[in-house]
Amino acid sequence: MQVAIDGPAGSGKSSVCKIIAEKYSLTYIDTGAMYRSIAWISIHFGEDNLVEKAGNTEFILEDNGRKISVKYDNNVYDLTKEIRMPEISAKVAFAASNRDIRKILVKKQQAFAEGSDVIMEGRDITTVVLPNADIKIYLTASPEERAKRRFKEWESMEQNEEYAKVLEEIKKRDEMDMSRKESPLLQSEDAVLLDTTGLSLEQVADKIGEMIISYK
Ligand code: C5P
Repeated sequence: MQVAIDGPAGSGKSSVCKIIAEKYSLTYIDTGAMYRSIAWISIHFGEDNLVEKAGNTEFILEDNGRKISVKYDNNVYDLTKEIRMPEISAKVAFAASNRDIRKILVKKQQAFAEGSDVIMEGRDITTVVLPNADIKIYLTASPEERAKRRFKEWESMEQNEEYAKVLEEIKKRDEMDMSRKESPLLQSEDAVLLDTTGLSLEQVADKIGEMIISYK
């Protein structure tokens, strides 16, 4: 079984995927974490030859997608926490808009999905990575609600950003993800639109659960 979910920043993709993965024994693959890891590589090892660096990066997904490490230059780096920092969010578009980096990451994502039941989320999963997925969902919520969720997440990480700044960052990233030339974020015709504004995480998980049960 393949469940593919796309949607903008803060739409609740990762929280809901973790619940669904556990409940229905699926492997959770957070593709945003892979783009974030390449942004981390560019900050720590430089932006030069980033395509080659991406090719030489091995992604290690542990604890069913809750942890991510990369193997680069014979060293393993646990990036689970670091890639959530605001400076990575600001840098990630640079890596995500590069066509060759995307090709490399898409191949690695497809390889992860081979031979196991997966729930994979990102921006181009329903359109490019798993276009034949059994269930395709476009998850969204209003920018204000998404900013509130991100704000709370950052607060718990002791990142003291102002709400207005978080909202601005969300809108900027939406604009970049939706308007870029390479694999822009869009709702594919056959994806189910799920607007989570005003819904709790459990309510969203229940709706996706119903889709999985009726598919089976
Ligand atoms: O999902 P998350 O917010 O962690 O993703 C970080 C960034 O990575 C997105 O804003 C987007 O630019 C990029 N991304 C992408 N394609 C994916 C997943 C993420 O371009 N499949």
